[in-house]
Amino acid sequence: MEKKNIDWSSIGFGYMPTDYRYVSNFKDGKWDEGTLSTDPNIVLNECAGVLQYSQSVFEGLKAYTTEDGHIVTFRPDLNAERIAASAARLEMPVFPKERFIDAVEQVVKANDAWVPPYGSGATLYLRPYMFGSNAVIGVKPADEYQFRILTTPVGPYFKGGAKPITIRVSDFDRAAPCGTGNIKAGLNYAMSLHAIVDAHKQGFDENMYLDPKTRTKVEETGGANFIFVTKDGKVVTPKSDSILPSITRRSLIYVAKEYLGLEAEEREIYFDEVKDFAECGLCGTAAVISPVGKINDHGKEICFPSGMEKMGPVIQKLYDTLTGIQMGRIEAPKGWIHVIE
Ligand SMILES: Cc1ncc(COP(=O)(O)O)c(C=O)c1O
Repeated sequence: MEKKNIDWSSIGFGYMPTDYRYVSNFKDGKWDEGTLSTDPNIVLNECAGVLQYSQSVFEGLKAYTTEDGHIVTFRPDLNAERIAASAARLEMPVFPKERFIDAVEQVVKANDAWVPPYGSGATLYLRPYMFGSNAVIGVKPADEYQFRILTTPVGPYFKGGAKPITIRVSDFDRAAPCGTGNIKAGLNYAMSLHAIVDAHKQGFDENMYLDPKTRTKVEETGGANFIFVTKDGKVVTPKSDSILPSITRRSLIYVAKEYLGLEAEEREIYFDEVKDFAECGLCGTAAVISPVGKINDHGKEICFPSGMEKMGPVIQKLYDTLTGIQMGRIEAPKGWIHVIE
């Protein structure tokens, strides 16, 4: 296959339609066999459940070109499990795991010319999503759904790539106690839009959300989990029922323990502790690990010793090891790398 003529190293994190997307419809209690489509548009009834009551869930994963030229995805089984949990929480039917993996394979193969080459710094982002598609006027779940996967080549999530960012403690919440913060539903992101626009206006790159119940514990940002390093080199990451269970964060905990021999712990983290940490980063499929240099708490600054120029040493090691595994330079734990072609 010949790659598309794109300057891969200069693309940002934006939408660029590719040749094919995967589509499957749920009707009369079952999913159809699914197909690849060249049409990027969706025609919906004016009263569709997703338009009225935001019944939508999604995922995000990437296809990478490895050093030896294969196209792979990273732990797609965990995305399949998470979208199933998200769907169940919003009373939507589950798209079966084996069908999810098959759809990922089909859509990546069909768009292989769009998978950025090894070493370009870009990847093909996959966005699986599902929404209520039939007309619903009383408040209730839809009966019909559409599952799709679109793909788009992407570069770094934050401008400047791996340069440390500045975030602020948000006065807005992104999730409610006992709400939907632990699933990947569009409604959580709608909640965060005003907060992120406001943060950008004030000159910050992201929001740090605290727990919505007590406002004393660290939760996550609008699109990534936190990872901290203590002054004695231990990796710690917030545990909470209202944050998204990040696949990157779960992978980094394993990498810290099993590849780097570090102590790593998922636990409640009080905001008061943050000033004593040596390093801070945001982790997620889109962010990979973005170092945080500074946190602004209502005018009071917490500046991490790792500074504003580069990643701290432990986060750098985690970054190098995780991306090494994803790009095929470092041997992966069994089952982490799903080879597509
Ligand atoms: C709110 C939120 N938290 C965390 C993450 C990171 O999750 P993952 O590592 O599975 O991409 C994401 C991105 O998917 C997110 O949107």
